[in-house]
Amino acid sequence: MAVDLEKILRPEDHPMPPFPAKYMTLASGEQMVIRQVDRDEIPDILQYVAPLVNVERDFYDVVAARLYSEILAYSRHRYQDQYVLVAQVDGEIAAVVNGRQVTPNLGMSLHTVALRRGLRIGAHAFATKMEYHMDVLGHDEVLIVAESPIGFRRWMIEYQLEKRFGTPHELGGVPSWSLTRELFDRARDTLVVGRRPVPDELLAKAKAGILPPSDPPTPPADLLAATRSMYDSTGTALMAQRWRQEVEHA
Ligand SMILES: CC(C)(COP(=O)(O)OP(=O)(O)OC[C@H]1O[C@@H](n2cnc3c(N)ncnc32)[C@H](O)[C@@H]1OP(=O)(O)O)[C@@H](O)C(=O)NCCC(=O)NCCS
Repeated sequence: MAVDLEKILRPEDHPMPPFPAKYMTLASGEQMVIRQVDRDEIPDILQYVAPLVNVERDFYDVVAARLYSEILAYSRHRYQDQYVLVAQVDGEIAAVVNGRQVTPNLGMSLHTVALRRGLRIGAHAFATKMEYHMDVLGHDEVLIVAESPIGFRRWMIEYQLEKRFGTPHELGGVPSWSLTRELFDRARDTLVVGRRPVPDELLAKAKAGILPPSDPPTPPADLLAATRSMYDSTGTALMAQRWRQEVEHA
């Protein structure tokens, strides 16, 4: 008897009300739109997350690798009950956040990545996904972890999250922290910003396409490369040396 394996492999998402798009004015005076993206827009995001896998600073590498895997799996129907929100300034990708619903009462925060620094874009995107969990999905609590010290400062300290150390988080099984409804309501007036509805023109610009980040985090420059390339303008020697190093350290 023929078995439709895809029916077994593909998880069936529980219905989740959509995230209503919002917008906010950044400290730079620019307007940022945060909206939900569906599976068809995930490839547009993946291309900008991939290079961050090479940025060790502030744990971009770990977070980008995990985010890449989660949203790719979401787009290929291999992740249960996940949502993905994208923040855009003038169409340009500024942040990506994702999470999922574990039960109708419990949310699981997955990742927050800022592709432009210094404007609290990541903080705004995180606050927005907490708003989605609490106000739209109606969760009582969201389980959260931080991979980076900046993340710890932004989530655990700014929201004064409660320890749920008896509960391993889905991200690596590490001890969880919890945003309860009470904590969220306390943070609402200070940390959660933005307005709805998004003006038609602003939303149309965001939906027209996810543009590349203009100033994304990058790995530090290789300061020796310039000297080496004086004698090897194609950089072949440098590349060969790196390959050797990779093989030796593999
Ligand atoms: C955590 C994160 C989402 C926070 O984003 P954010 O709120 O927009 O904050 P930024 O990263 O721009 O800045 C954080 C701090 O670093 C400083 N900073 C670091 N690099 C900077 C840069 N290139 N330009 C400007 N500021 C920078 C900022 O001044 C800021 O200081 P503050 O906390 O005193 O305000 C973001 O740092 C990020 O994506 N990190 C990598 C992935 C990660 O750790 N995600 C969270 C997992 S728990």
